Amino acid sequence: MPESLPPAVTVDAGLRSRADADPGAAPGATPDTPLIRVAGLSLHYGAARALHDVTLDIPPRQVTAFIGPSGCGKSTLLRCFNRMNDLIDHVRIEGSVTIADQPIYSPEVDVIELRKRVGMVFQKSNPFPKSIYENVAYALRLHGVRDRRTLDDVVERSLRGAALWDEVKDRLHASALGLSGGQQQRLCIARAIAIEPQILLMDEPASALDPIATARIEDLILDLKKDFTIVIVTHNMQQAARISDRTAFFYLGELIEADTTRNLFTRPSRKQTEDYVTGRFG
Ligand SMILES: Nc1ncnc2c1ncn2[C@@H]1O[C@H](COP(=O)(O)OP(=O)(O)OP(=O)(O)O)[C@@H](O)[C@H]1O
Ligand SMILES: [Mg+2]
Repeated sequence: MPESLPPAVTVDAGLRSRADADPGAAPGATPDTPLIRVAGLSLHYGAARALHDVTLDIPPRQVTAFIGPSGCGKSTLLRCFNRMNDLIDHVRIEGSVTIADQPIYSPEVDVIELRKRVGMVFQKSNPFPKSIYENVAYALRLHGVRDRRTLDDVVERSLRGAALWDEVKDRLHASALGLSGGQQQRLCIARAIAIEPQILLMDEPASALDPIATARIEDLILDLKKDFTIVIVTHNMQQAARISDRTAFFYLGELIEADTTRNLFTRPSRKQTEDYVTGRFG
């Protein structure tokens, strides 16, 4: 069996042994029922098509990475999962997205509730100009939580969950804007997990960070997948190989291939995927 990794990509030993754990499994098979199911999804911005007939299943409590050249629709698809595209004019969506068997574009869906279940972390950290504490407590306050003890507990748990507590526990009431870039990004993750979403969407969460801060975010993501289903967009092939269980490759608005990360990087079934993961284009 050919086992050649593309030169720029190393798949860590942990990933290898996980992927090898069930040799009888069908290629791309996943152990769990999908949490997110995308079926025949197309999206237009006005006359411009950004996604075309995308069908994809995303399993729970795993990391799924979206890769592909700039403009191929990765962020657009991510935004479909919490209906962020609703905020953009002239968007037309066909097909369906279901989360835990609920079709999220059906008229009876409460979008506020949906966004509580599907949190998002962006490329550029965006803490509010408030204290560290108030950033994390923000969504709870919005949902009417007033009890100080509850707020204190959630703030501590979320900051611990985001691997930031030890660095900030003595200055919880200082401005969040005084934190470093990597700390601000972990604060945004703490803010997102404070309301215990089921799904965390991350759009290039580490692309503005130095290698040490990036490594901390990657460790954190591996830790968070015990509790959350994570979908991450990354331009960094090594990062996708290091942290994701499954990878989906997009090109010009189409899903070209989705598989276990190991298969997608070591034996892609489509030529376009191979060219992209080996750095021949993109
Ligand atoms: N708000 C918008 N209005 C109109 N067109 C948009 C909008 N957002 C994205 N597009 C277009 O949709 C297509 C897909 O964009 P998207 O941002 O999803 O790509 P991407 O894969 O995330 O790219 P990148 O890697 O550069 O972030 C592009 O052609 C883009 O120009
Ligand atoms: Mg994008």
